[in-house]
Order: sequence, then C-alpha cells, then structure tokens
Amino acid sequence: MKKNDNSLYVIFGASGDLNKRKLVPSLYALFVQGLLPEKFAMLGVSRTPFTDEAYRAAMKADINRYKEVEDASQIEAFLQKIYYVAVQVNDAAAYPAFKQYLEALREKEQIGGNTVFYLSTPPTSYGVIPKHLASVGLNKQKDGWKRLIIEKPFGYDLESAMELKDILLKDWKEDQIYRIDHYLGKETVQNLLVTRFSNGIFEPLWNRNYIHHVEITAAESIGVEQRGGYYETAGALRDMVQNHLLQVAAITAMEPPSSLEPIAIRNEVLKVFQSLRPIRKADVKAQAIRGQYVASTIKGEKMPGYREEPEVSPDSVTETYAALKFYIDNWRWGGVPFYIRTGKRLPTRVTEVVVHFKPTPHFLFSQGEAAHTCNQLVIRIQPDEGILMKFGMKTPGAGFEVQRVNMDFHYSDLTNQRIPSAYERLLYDSMKGDATLFARTEEVIEAWKFLSPVLEAWKNDKTVPLHGYPAGSWGPEMADDLIDGEDMTWRYPCKNLSDDGVYCEL
Ligand code: BG6
Repeated sequence: MKKNDNSLYVIFGASGDLNKRKLVPSLYALFVQGLLPEKFAMLGVSRTPFTDEAYRAAMKADINRYKEVEDASQIEAFLQKIYYVAVQVNDAAAYPAFKQYLEALREKEQIGGNTVFYLSTPPTSYGVIPKHLASVGLNKQKDGWKRLIIEKPFGYDLESAMELKDILLKDWKEDQIYRIDHYLGKETVQNLLVTRFSNGIFEPLWNRNYIHHVEITAAESIGVEQRGGYYETAGALRDMVQNHLLQVAAITAMEPPSSLEPIAIRNEVLKVFQSLRPIRKADVKAQAIRGQYVASTIKGEKMPGYREEPEVSPDSVTETYAALKFYIDNWRWGGVPFYIRTGKRLPTRVTEVVVHFKPTPHFLFSQGEAAHTCNQLVIRIQPDEGILMKFGMKTPGAGFEVQRVNMDFHYSDLTNQRIPSAYERLLYDSMKGDATLFARTEEVIEAWKFLSPVLEAWKNDKTVPLHGYPAGSWGPEMADDLIDGEDMTWRYPCKNLSDDGVYCEL
C-alpha cells in the first residue's frame, strides 16, 4: 500500500450478515498481513445505535467466529481502527451531520479525504444512499478519491438496472463505482486467466475447432437457510446466473487482453457479454430449465422442501435450480454450446468449469463409454480447488482397450500457501483503485438483457414447467435433455443423496 492509499472504509449495513461474516474478518486478515494502508479506519454505519465499544466487542466475536486467518494476536490492535455511527441512511436530513462526523474522524485518525463507501445494505438503498452522499458533496474528489462499492443484485431486471445506473451516474463517475461480484475475487477464477494465457498448450485448442461444449456448474448443498425472504424475490437465475456464472463464462470465453490493465481485461469481458446470442421467446423452454426442491429423505433424515422454508410462500414458484444452454456468437465460439447450471440442495457443494474437447474423428480403439468422456479439462473453482485433465490410456494387457485416467492438480498440494478469500482480495483492490475484478455497468446491463426473455417467460408463461426435484438430488432430470449429443449428460461429481427418486411437476 502506498501513502495515497490511506483511506477511510465506510460500511453501510454494518450490523448485517455480510459485514460480520465476510467484510470485517477479511479486513482483519489484510491487517494481519500488513496489507492495510498505514493510515486506515473502518466506520460501521447502520440504523441500530451502538457505542464504539459495543460494536468493537461484536466485531471481535465475529472475527473469531468467521475466521479468515488463524493469527488472533492482532485483534485488539485492529479493533482500535473500528468506529461506529448510527445513521437513518434513507433520510436525506441525516447526511449533513454524517459528513461532520466523517470530517472529525478523518481529523482524529489523520487519514485525509480518500474514502470507500461500501453498500452492504438491502438493494432498496442502492439508489438512495449514493444520492444522499452526493447531496452533501461526499462524492467530490478534490480532497481525495471517493469510491462506491455496490453489492449484487444490481437491479431486479433490465429496467430497474438501467434506472439504478442512471441514478448513480447522475452524481458519480463510472470509475468511482465498483460493482462487487465475489466470484471474480476467487483465486481459482483468476487462475482461469493464468491457465489460459500463460500456457502454450491450452490456448491453441481453446476454440470451436477443438472444443465440443463448455459446462459450468455451481452446486450448493445448503438450502436457502434464513434467507427465504430475499430468495423469494430473486430465485436461482437472478441470484447466481445473472452475475457469478455469466462472469465465469465470460472469463472462460474471453479473448486474450492486450495487457493486464483493468481496461484491457474488462473490454474483452464486455465483448463476450455483447456476443451472447439472444434467447428467443419461442426457445426459452428448449434452452432453460427451472426447478424447485421438494421435501425428501436423505439417509433416513427428512429434508424440508423449499416451500416449507422460513419466509417462503407455501405456493411459491421461485426457482431454486436453473440450467441454461446458450451460444456466444463470435469467431472463436461460433456453434459451441455453453451450459450453465446452479441449484440449492444439490448433493454436494462444487463449482467447476468443464471444457469438453471434441473426440477424435475416428475411433481406432474400442473406447466404450470413454469415447465421449475422455479429453475433458475440469477447472475446479471450489472446494478442493485445482485442475483435472481426463484422457484415455491403454488398458494394460492384450488388445487395445482404452480407459479413462486423470491428471489431477490440487491447490492443497502447494503446502504453506494460503488462498486468500474472495472478499479479502476485492477489499484490497478497492483501496488500491484496481477495478479489474469488478463488474462494469455495461456488463451488468448486457447480462440482464440476455436473461430478460427467460425471466419474462418464467414469470408470465404458465406453460413453462417448474420441475420439482428431491432435496439432495442433482436437480430436474429434464436438465439432461439440454445437453446436445448422444449419451451426453452433465458431469455428476457424485451420486444423488436423496432416497426418493420422485421428480414431479410443480
Ligand atoms: C451469493 C448468493 O451471491 O453466492 C448465495 O446470494 C450463494 O445464494 C452464494 O449461496 C454462493 O457463494 P459461494 O462463494 O459460497 O459459492
């Protein structure tokens, strides 16, 4: 960190879940590694009154509970950098006093004017807080940079995202706005760039001539837990696909950037979003599958269905599973299908990109099942981060039988090398002013545009089925039909856990 990175980190939504689980523990991890600026303070802001002491005590408990680093010896020193102020954040009249408070705090900590405003609030405040900050001049950069970090979801659909964009751009410049997508902060997602662009062996094959299709999965074994209220307004498509998975797809598909400058990388990512082939209304049923988990029994234990979860409507039609087939219409990817799937209450937690290479043009050997499943590159984003290459090998003995074998690299083999959490990386970058791993307005808008026909059909077309899948299974069986090619299915890294084989139409 340089002197001009000295900054005040203001977190709105400071009594919320994200702040305590991720933001404060990540800031502490940066502190322990000496990665915070020399002059630094964090200011928690929310409606509930706390004294600085009470807030620090709560943060201490959370740092210990949601540990990012083992070393707890510096917690007390770190806590001295934390302050708290209660503000009615949606009330414009509260901001002149808030500004005075900030000025006094900067003076006390000798920080100067650099400020990050992190909105970890409900999305309804995303348009309001920046406007109120600007009304008292807290967007002005004469005395130091001012940055706004906005959590997802950025809008609810294309229209609301455009509206939010216009509201923000009235008072803030595009380069002041950092839209966080924590998948971009994951080490393994960034490693996709390195795997592709630092190895001569992959890139020549990374195109329509050699790749049959690309599959991206983000499976979660948890249900919606205590977030039923939020999830009812989102669903799997908005929660995971619109942001995280399309970003991963874009990094998998982008052209090599001319340099590592943020603008160069983000331009290439944007081009992928702009090349997504629109899904026609008439094709939604064939290209998008939705599902919702229903109650099931796993090893004798009853699992509730989505409709039985807290704050979920008993006749909810919100999807907890979404699978999509789409194309990227450009020179590199013309005709190559991309498949994305994500869901809650699937058998395991795994996020991975699977690149399926084309089989040989003629099968010389008896390959059996291996014919279509050899030659896959599996980039495991989490957990058990790593890269797996599957290829065919001669089965020892008489004849020429082919069997599938693995070459498998695990990050855990890099002993003594800690993998920083996604938030740690992104918070650090936000202080450095490096926007490479943040989503740009146009990307977000393009992603909404692309998904609009699906969102529209799922909302209004009663003939589009919502498939029930037993909690603990791999989602609706129909999702297999999305995959083109005989005998081709998704990669199933493990078996269904559910004892119930019941699939139904909801
Ligand atoms: C969040 C979603 O953005 O990502 C959650 O809102 C989801 O529903 C989470 O569980 C998954 O993140 P990760 O890092 O655990 O894969």
